Amino acid sequence: MNLLVVGGGGREHAIIKKLKENPAVSTIYALPGNGGIAQDATCVPEIGASDIPAIVAFAKSHEIGFAVVAPDDPLALGCVDRLHEAGIPCFGPSAAAARIESSKVFSKNLMKKYGIPTAGYAVFSDPAEALAYLRGASFPIVVKADGLALGKGVLIPQNLPEAEEAVKTIMEDKAFGDSGNEIVVEEFLTGPEVSVLAFTDGAAISPMVSSMDHKRAGDGDTGLNTGGMGTIAPNPYYTPEIAKVCMDTIFLPTLAAMRAEGCPFKGCLYFGLMLTPDGPKVIEYNCRFGDPETQVVLPLLKSDLLTVMQAVENETLSALPVEWHQGAAACVILASGGYPSHYEKGKVMTLPAAFPENVTCYHAGDRLEGGELLTSGGRVLGVAATASTLREALRDAYAAAETVTFEGKYMRRDIGQLALRAMEEQ
Ligand code: AMP
Ligand code: GLY
Repeated sequence: MNLLVVGGGGREHAIIKKLKENPAVSTIYALPGNGGIAQDATCVPEIGASDIPAIVAFAKSHEIGFAVVAPDDPLALGCVDRLHEAGIPCFGPSAAAARIESSKVFSKNLMKKYGIPTAGYAVFSDPAEALAYLRGASFPIVVKADGLALGKGVLIPQNLPEAEEAVKTIMEDKAFGDSGNEIVVEEFLTGPEVSVLAFTDGAAISPMVSSMDHKRAGDGDTGLNTGGMGTIAPNPYYTPEIAKVCMDTIFLPTLAAMRAEGCPFKGCLYFGLMLTPDGPKVIEYNCRFGDPETQVVLPLLKSDLLTVMQAVENETLSALPVEWHQGAAACVILASGGYPSHYEKGKVMTLPAAFPENVTCYHAGDRLEGGELLTSGGRVLGVAATASTLREALRDAYAAAETVTFEGKYMRRDIGQLALRAMEEQ
């Protein structure tokens, strides 16, 4: 069977590597893919991940038996709806269901209506009203652009002048484009953060191994927010007791809410949770696999990924046991110096001929030119390792990360340290 994967980052590389394990899979096309993904799939660099008509036309002309739409933009633009109309089975939510990520106003109102625990909030479309509210607020407070903003549309002002600056940045300067037409101002919560990705067919839900992202650019969670600088799985804060609370108060109620709203969610639903002193609360939903969470979660999946995705599409997930490996995984992102602010591209990369057996290098932002791999993005590679313990996985991921070179290579040095400390305290 030919497969099509929409997207071209580290997450898509991890999905493709896992899909390839199924012996019934013949060719996997990546639209657009990237330089490193070309080792595992047939990349089509001419077709961008948001070019829905070209994606549908390509799927129809290449006998695609199953498609996976991974990034948020094409999902919000209705890529899955259009593929379904063309008769192509696929994995991912409809545009209506993808609003759970593409509109923070939609998701906050959903949680309020259905009593799903989240931070208290107010929505503003008028900057003057937002400022009036902020003058009476206590700090820190959280200001979020309504729409998609590559994980960067969240500001946490510590005082009123910073809050005024945040409103100006998002609503007036439009730093995140039309995403900032509306903002959500919400209560600042505290507690460990957990990412839980879950397969769901709209009714049944099968949570994956939990994970922890490291969103800030610098060691010790300093610097700007990024798309994610590294991940570990499983997340030690996510105990079986907490998992049960999340299932009962968050996961199942969210699925029921989406059904009640007439947009059942099918695909991978990502719960960004904070374990607050008042219990687990939703920080955000994503309508897709996380990046770089996928790079630590899928290597621990024992079941066949294509079979699980087909069960989601066919709404038979409740009958399918999804199995996981014991052990742990860690992923360290190698970024271009300067990311997430200004950085240079086009640096020649050198990679070892082979990585150790428990290490996988996921390519996020590179391209092939004249047989050489050149950097082409802020996050360039994710070096991931699996092992029986988190400490070993981190050791092996960091050792392998040292064997890759490119000018300006930057990585956080403390991925997993918080998790190790949490495990020592347990
Ligand atoms: P988001 O893109 O919504 O996941 O937000 C990015 C990051 O901002 C989260 O991972 C949190 O670390 C932080 N954040 C978002 N909302 C809140 C909140 N209500 N309270 C505290 N931190 C938050
Ligand atoms: N790593 C966070 C995200 O994928 O949104």
